[in-house]
Amino acid sequence: MKCPSIGEVNAMCLATCSRDGRPSARMLLLKGFGQEGFQFFTNHDSRKAKELDSNPFASIVFYWEPLNRQVRIEGSVERLPEQESETYFHSRPKSSQIGAVVSRQSTVIPDREYLRKKNAELEEVYREAKVPKPAYWGGYILKPEVIEFWQGQTNRLHDRIVFRYLQDTSAPLEPMTHRGEGNWVYERLSP
Ligand SMILES: Cc1cc2nc3c(=O)[nH]c(=O)nc-3n(C[C@H](O)[C@H](O)[C@H](O)COP(=O)(O)O)c2cc1C
Repeated sequence: MKCPSIGEVNAMCLATCSRDGRPSARMLLLKGFGQEGFQFFTNHDSRKAKELDSNPFASIVFYWEPLNRQVRIEGSVERLPEQESETYFHSRPKSSQIGAVVSRQSTVIPDREYLRKKNAELEEVYREAKVPKPAYWGGYILKPEVIEFWQGQTNRLHDRIVFRYLQDTSAPLEPMTHRGEGNWVYERLSP
């Protein structure tokens, strides 16, 4: 975030996978992160949401070109509590809230005019009123199990440090595996 030449620092690629093993990926915006995981908001009826319903494992990738840096995160995804989605929904500009109501994401629509008309109608309906959060819109949290930091170097001997979250920390570690904080261990991978 301190690097001014990165346009959208929180833009990330989210990859999901159907139950029968077909992956799909798209860009999203990261809207929060912490010890618990990485949060994003979307439509619960969208393709990604349907894939997450049937297979909760997903992967996120960030690439910050000016820093020559990539971060890959893997884990399982859960829905955020309804109250958190509600709070975030109402923190967005009203036009974005209406946009979420207008768009039944990932469904086929006749043309652009259909969206424009629906948007205009809803702007009128909610001119004075609060926009209710649609039941089909909300947040998710990806709980990380693997995080890899990739730092490009000019000599092509790039750095790759991968952190893994262990469920069981009592087992002895391999010689090139190091202990991190909490249940995390880390290793250096060949580029
Ligand atoms: C930079 C960027 C950020 C985006 N952020 C979001 C987002 O935060 N939430 C979202 O639902 N879609 C976002 N989109 C649109 C998604 O890429 C995608 O078109 C949409 O979510 C439908 O994906 P699906 O059909 O695979 O579910 C963003 C697109 C771009 C290019």
